[in-house]
Amino acid sequence: MDLVLRPGRPDDAAECGRICFDAFSRIAHAHGFPSDIPGTDTATGMFEMLLNPGYYSVVAELDGRIVGSNLLDERSPVVGVGPITVDPTVQNGGVGRPLMQDVMQRAAERHAPGIRLLQSGYHSRSFALYAGLRFEFRETVACLQGPRSE
Ligand SMILES: CC(C)(COP(=O)(O)OP(=O)(O)OC[C@H]1O[C@@H](n2cnc3c(N)ncnc32)[C@H](O)[C@@H]1OP(=O)(O)O)[C@@H](O)C(=O)NCCC(=O)NCCS
Repeated sequence: MDLVLRPGRPDDAAECGRICFDAFSRIAHAHGFPSDIPGTDTATGMFEMLLNPGYYSVVAELDGRIVGSNLLDERSPVVGVGPITVDPTVQNGGVGRPLMQDVMQRAAERHAPGIRLLQSGYHSRSFALYAGLRFEFRETVACLQGPRSE
């Protein structure tokens, strides 16, 4: 597998946004949940904001094609991972692990006192990936969706 990791650039926003929306909506729908991200445009807008100072970014290319990305929120001493997303067509092929290792390496170089992330409880593969990289479960966060009752 000819996988290359490189820094993210502002002009990656559209393709990273498309992959991000695809990846999150597929895993959510597979478990009967609505997607956390309403559409590709929202995801692209999010990447336009994130591919900027304050965030470290890494993009994975497979044979010259973008197949995934990961970010590190560096605005606090404890840095925050995500979103990490891999194109559903190449998931479970070993792209996610180097994307995680890259941001963990970055955090180590900056002597970050900790790394945090949020993980959807229904996604056992991402949990396996993080647990294998020695992340530890800390707390449950409830995500309530839908209209507020009066
Ligand atoms: C999470 C995500 C980025 C992982 O990317 P990926 O390229 O599939 O990851 P990899 O192939 O490198 O690793 C997948 C891990 O799942 C494990 N795995 C695969 N099938 C599994 C199964 N049925 N049960 C448990 N673990 C499984 C693999 O063993 C691997 O872990 P390992 O490297 O420790 O062996 C990708 O699934 C994704 O984009 N998901 C949708 C978006 C998302 O949920 N992002 C994370 C938000 S917290």
